[in-house]
Amino acid sequence: MVEIKNVAIVGASGAIGEPIMKALVESGKFNVTVVKRPSSKASFPASVKVVSADTTSVESVTAAFEGQDAVVSTVGTEGLQGQQVLIDAAIAAGVKRFLPSEFGTDIANPKVGALPVFGYKIATQKYLQEALAAKPGMTYTYVSNGAFLDWGLKNGFLLDTKDGKPTIYDGGKTVFSATTLASVGQAVVGVLSHYEETKNRCVYVRDIDISQKRLLEIAQKVAPEKKWEPVNVNTVDIEKSSNEGLARGEFTIPVMVGFIFRAIFGEGYGNKFEKDDNALLGITGKTEADVEAIFKALLAGGK
Ligand SMILES: NC(=O)c1ccc[n+]([C@@H]2O[C@H](COP(=O)([O-])OP(=O)(O)OC[C@H]3O[C@@H](n4cnc5c(N)ncnc54)[C@H](OP(=O)(O)O)[C@@H]3O)[C@@H](O)[C@H]2O)c1
Repeated sequence: MVEIKNVAIVGASGAIGEPIMKALVESGKFNVTVVKRPSSKASFPASVKVVSADTTSVESVTAAFEGQDAVVSTVGTEGLQGQQVLIDAAIAAGVKRFLPSEFGTDIANPKVGALPVFGYKIATQKYLQEALAAKPGMTYTYVSNGAFLDWGLKNGFLLDTKDGKPTIYDGGKTVFSATTLASVGQAVVGVLSHYEETKNRCVYVRDIDISQKRLLEIAQKVAPEKKWEPVNVNTVDIEKSSNEGLARGEFTIPVMVGFIFRAIFGEGYGNKFEKDDNALLGITGKTEADVEAIFKALLAGGK
């Protein structure tokens, strides 16, 4: 039986990297090493070992991965394209399990996979699978968690509560799966604790299935004094406008995020998972009362 003991995480200073690192440490099951870029200004808890590596150099990253059983990549958008270096280095260092930076909607859904914003993730999966076919040994797991629930509310991504004028996509009817950052961290602990069951596949985790319509109702219940004026938009129009932006050479955040809204809220994008691995990975889920608690913290003081 393969046991994962030494785990390296790349991108641990990021939105999802930090909670995954925390979950790995707090599980008490792993020796955690953070691999950061020399330019990184981030600081990390004393309980993790920190090493620097040039993430554009296979040689440099291989040295950082020596002795690691698993590598978790949580690199953000700018780092997605460069994950081939991490894969080559992980294979060279004899790593047993690699988790690429996924942590979102299910890109195995053909409609999601065809959206330009996921191009680097699709290319990474292809590269990984071809590399492992040519040189078997390392294994992989993709973690698909739908939208980040708490992060998505805090950043106005799933429902923008700031000025009371949230954008509602496709009538707010689409039910989508969403997961808190802490539960994504727990899912990664679960993956690395269940080597065989999670080998060479995508695992699905979720805390809740919910719609924007329901999110808005909960927000209105929490802050009835606020003037709520939702703005309705259609994700077909958003996708069209993002495609037009790309055609003009605009590789901007609003253009790319438009495709993500299409994936989360558009019909037929596998928004609500048909199955999940919650039981295997130890995810117990959240209730609408938990969502209400998130809104209470966000909307405290009439914000
Ligand atoms: N499901 C959702 O709702 C959702 C939302 C947001 C993100 N995501 C996904 O979660 C994953 C991580 O995103 P994030 O927002 O957490 O990332 P992030 O905060 O933007 O960045 C994570 C870390 O990546 C490292 N990094 C940045 N540029 C890099 C580069 N060029 N090469 C190597 N490393 C680089 C940095 O770490 P150092 O400075 O320490 O090296 C950075 O702190 C992505 O796959 C993203 O698509 C999902």
